[in-house]
Amino acid sequence: MGATMVVETAMEFLLPSWWEVQVTVAAAAFVLVAYWFFSAGADGGGDDRGLAEGSGGGADMIEDRDKMLFKGDSQTNSAYLIKVELLAAKNLIGANLNGTSDPYAIITCGSEKRFSSMVPGSRNPMWGEEFNFSVDELPVEINVTIYDWDIIWKSAVLGKVIIRVEQEGQTGAVWYTLDSPSGQVCLHIKTLKLQMNSSRVLNGYAGANPRRRPLDKQGPTVVHQKPGPLQTIFNLLPDEIVEHSYSCALERSFLYHGRMYVSAWHICFHSNVFSKQMKVMVPFGDIDEIKRSQHAFINPAITIILRMGAGGHGVPPLGNPDGRVRYKFASFWNRNHALRGLQRAVKNYHDMLEAEKKEKEQSALRAHSSSIKGSNRQSKISEPSVAKTDKSQPFIKEEVLSEIYNDVFPCTAEQFFKFLLDDDSTYTNEYRTIRKDSNLLMGQWHSADEYDGQVREITFRSVCNSPMCPPDTAMTEWQHAVLSADKKILVFETVQQAHDVPFGSYFEIHCRWSLESNSESSCTINIRVGAHFKKWCVMQSKIKSGAINEYKKEVEMMLDVARSYIHSKTSSSKTETTPSPPVVVKESR
Ligand SMILES: *[C@@H]1O[C@H](CO)[C@@H](O)[C@H](O)[C@H]1NC(C)=O
Ligand SMILES: *[C@@H]1O[C@H](CO)[C@@H](O)[C@H](O)[C@H]1NC(C)=O
Ligand SMILES: *[C@@H]1O[C@H](CO)[C@@H](O)[C@H](O)[C@H]1NC(C)=O
Ligand SMILES: *[C@@H]1O[C@H](CO)[C@@H](O)[C@H](O)[C@H]1NC(C)=O
Repeated sequence: MGATMVVETAMEFLLPSWWEVQVTVAAAAFVLVAYWFFSAGADGGGDDRGLAEGSGGGADMIEDRDKMLFKGDSQTNSAYLIKVELLAAKNLIGANLNGTSDPYAIITCGSEKRFSSMVPGSRNPMWGEEFNFSVDELPVEINVTIYDWDIIWKSAVLGKVIIRVEQEGQTGAVWYTLDSPSGQVCLHIKTLKLQMNSSRVLNGYAGANPRRRPLDKQGPTVVHQKPGPLQTIFNLLPDEIVEHSYSCALERSFLYHGRMYVSAWHICFHSNVFSKQMKVMVPFGDIDEIKRSQHAFINPAITIILRMGAGGHGVPPLGNPDGRVRYKFASFWNRNHALRGLQRAVKNYHDMLEAEKKEKEQSALRAHSSSIKGSNRQSKISEPSVAKTDKSQPFIKEEVLSEIYNDVFPCTAEQFFKFLLDDDSTYTNEYRTIRKDSNLLMGQWHSADEYDGQVREITFRSVCNSPMCPPDTAMTEWQHAVLSADKKILVFETVQQAHDVPFGSYFEIHCRWSLESNSESSCTINIRVGAHFKKWCVMQSKIKSGAINEYKKEVEMMLDVARSYIHSKTSSSKTETTPSPPVVVKESR
């Protein structure tokens, strides 16, 4: 017993430092330094590898640092939907010289802030606009402030009212008196409790209200990135970058010239004419349609129509008879080109949500099956489980894998499993101990309804050496093993997820070891590995290639250790019983 443990050592060895490296790569500028840390921490002697990596990737990395951005979590778990209908106002103060006003409202609730459209030349405006707000808990205050729009100067306040929402229900249409010499506003407020589970689904996808939350919800994230216009002008999260930008003008009573910036989540616009700063931020999740339109007959324009309940962001939008507000932009260099760009961006956004949703389901399924609670547990290693080929689905993403190793290894595929992976093996323990990892919890192998062969889950805390990371992080590794009916072919797959590192939730490390016995005492090992991104992120290809390179180096070192480990085990335990019982048997492959 034990020879094969080596191999697992090797295997286990490479995984943790691999994601560390990934994170490093992801976090860009640190790659070089951090890799030194990693290799020193992991094997105590990777200097030359560190240098090689440094000279190879250094220049790119530094350059890429500015672009290194990640997508935040578009999911919220709001518990209440508050729907504010802004119906009308009356007897507002006349702020213009001729005694009228150009009123619009800013409504804030919780951390969200929306703009109503502006009604020109009226002291008794009618709006009929809806605003959805999502909040985590009640009570909450709704702040409705009415302003007079000014073409040039800062808008003047016409009055405000603060309404406290204590519980679910609806108010009906109620006139509220403003805190100013004159004026009332009519609102209808509905408060609905959202089912936690359904709201998650909706928010993440069908889009009740997909607001992005700050990254810090995910743990200690450090983003070293030079802020771009989206950060400096719009105060968006550090991970948003400009994918396209267009010179254009926002149409109001006046054309405000400026620049439109498009990121993966927002269409933003900024202008600064006279001394009036105008900023529009439209989340893609709020967009209903993007259409061709005209400004003053001769100027081709683009109208962005928002969904019912979205409200304007940044400046008052234009009203619409059906209650959907809109922003209109004109004076593009090439309107049709810009329109196609925006429509493509909307599509990409929805594809991204779709992919994330699918991804979430698959991860949940895998985690559920692999955990001990997950499925019927009786089948142990010794019990040949017949392949359920009709039901089986892939455990890992084949398409992300790249081959990094292919060579002969001194034990059979069957032995490999028996010695290194079997429930009785203490290999993983030993290996984790050497690495100074802690809290190792290993589930037992069991069959799962959804996958061929067997699965298990292991968790541990793994030491991190990167300056980007906390001292250690919780890790989950899901494992999947299938031995062919003739026991000559073993496929061992792992999916690893780091929970506490920056961006840890954005990707998983997928790995497949394919072993095929080629004699009584050896097999070929083919190792393929890849980073699978669960969420969209700008630098994917860079991160992937960086990760693969690092992993390749780890494998070399790991297999060296494995060979000597096997050697010591086999030479010291010649008398032990020969390996035997079938692992997981798959009928054919
Ligand atoms: C009053 O003046 C504003 C601009 O100051 C203008 O938009 C509005 O049409 C005028 N209304 C009337 C009734 O003249
Ligand atoms: C209400 O909102 C306005 C504009 O958003 C803000 O200036 C004001 O301070 C808020 N008042 C309160 C009491 O929150
Ligand atoms: C939410 O959970 C409840 C039970 O807690 C369940 O009845 C309902 O079907 C779930 N809804 C969704 C959309 O999953
Ligand atoms: C606002 O809420 C309603 C449900 O009350 C929903 O149909 C609509 O899509 C929501 N709008 C936005 C922009 O979230």
